[in-house]
Amino acid sequence: MTRVAFGSGIYLLTSLAAGALSLGAAAQPPVFNAAGELERPADSREWVYVTTGLDMFYGPTANATRGERGSVFTNVFVTPAAYREFMRSGTWPDKTMFILEARRAETGASIDNAGKSQGELLAIESAVKDVARFRANEGSNGWGYFTFDGPNGLKDSARVLPTSASCYQCHAANTAVDNTFVQFYPTLFEVAKRLGTVKPTYDPAHKL
Ligand code: HEC
Repeated sequence: MTRVAFGSGIYLLTSLAAGALSLGAAAQPPVFNAAGELERPADSREWVYVTTGLDMFYGPTANATRGERGSVFTNVFVTPAAYREFMRSGTWPDKTMFILEARRAETGASIDNAGKSQGELLAIESAVKDVARFRANEGSNGWGYFTFDGPNGLKDSARVLPTSASCYQCHAANTAVDNTFVQFYPTLFEVAKRLGTVKPTYDPAHKL
């Protein structure tokens, strides 16, 4: 008969219990609550990191607000299962969820003298592909857009924005793959080009 050390037996039991717990408790995002609102994920920093934009501004005028608010970084994360499917097929599966996190840029923080580093959280936004849920919303392309607002008013859940919100039009008209700005996500753009999933309407020379 094999002698199992007491300590490792306890370890096995606790890790089994922890595994069962996390399986039961952690529903995969996107999670919609009873009120039909999208829950803000607590772990989006453990998703796949897509890109960081710095001071991106789209439109005919100069970035007028930049002086007042300083520079802003936008960090994009996507659910791991959706990322794996994109790497395989160059397309986003149903239930893909993105988080876009805006952070104020700091200059001269700590030992830095001249560059920009990421500081305070400004806002969290999200996009979810859920065709059954959103396809009836004309102009949605099966996507829903959400804002969880900023730090003090940071919301735990958010109702889908109406398709009159600017998000829908800009994301439908100017994106390289599906409703997403894959042209700005270098590693993903390579995959989409290789697999031929870049939209024929995508024009790299087009400006707003
Ligand atoms: C005028 C165009 C424009 C508008 C309006 C706009 N976005 Fe975007 N959005 C972008 C661009 C460009 C990116 C790529 C950002 C980057 O590379 O950092 C982006 C990226 C995103 C992403 C990351 C996933 C993706 O689709 O590529 C989310 C989530 C997002 N936007 C949400 C929103 C929400 C919510 C709104 C409305 C409240 C909105 N956006 C309005 C241009 C726009």
